[in-house]
Amino acid sequence: MTTAIVSAMHEELAAVLDLMPDESRRLAAGREFWVGHLHGREVVAVLSRIGKVAAATTAAVLIERFQVSEIVFTGVAGGLGPGVSVGDVVVAESFLQHDLDASPIFPRYEVPLYGASQFRTDAALTARLSAAVARALPQQRLHRGLVVSGDRFVSTDAECRALQAALPQALAVEMEGAAVAQVCHDFGVPFAAVRTISDRADDDAHVDFARFVRDVASRHSAAIVHALLA
Ligand code: ADE
Repeated sequence: MTTAIVSAMHEELAAVLDLMPDESRRLAAGREFWVGHLHGREVVAVLSRIGKVAAATTAAVLIERFQVSEIVFTGVAGGLGPGVSVGDVVVAESFLQHDLDASPIFPRYEVPLYGASQFRTDAALTARLSAAVARALPQQRLHRGLVVSGDRFVSTDAECRALQAALPQALAVEMEGAAVAQVCHDFGVPFAAVRTISDRADDDAHVDFARFVRDVASRHSAAIVHALLA
């Protein structure tokens, strides 16, 4: 039983790596995979880098080369849903690619030849992750639901409003989760994802994001991963 812990950026994973006492580094697909233990459990930690293709490559290597049994993604996201504020935590129940549009051949957002636009996260792993968030960050508001992914940092009021209008159920936006969800679906590997809200995907997003990633993201990830595996 090996759990993969994935983040897009170093700032989101640094404190998790500090918790691993015995890791060895292995290189694959140009990435460093930290193989070791956390609370006695076998863990592979890796930075996916940013965007859907980078995330999909990382997930495929974790599954095929490192034979992980489950994948947990942790990081930050922009808040979209009403009441999803900076500092809140979102646990994904499903993912959609907001920038996927093969219409009119297929309905907008539908992943061609899958007959679906959303991929659900694993219910049991997601329940464990939600319980871990509640234990690790009891003062933070926790939301569960749809998270949308795309190869775009959403950083204007106009873009944010357009996404909210097109996808009113979306709680948050980021750049990797839907890709990992699709790869895990293909391989039948359980997947769960948690994102702390770093910004509201609006005109101030780039400033809020930079500050949050520097000051909070890694601490939150480490606390959640610690509670999940302890
Ligand atoms: N990750 C964190 N904030 C984001 C945003 N506003 N857009 C896309 N990904 C993000």
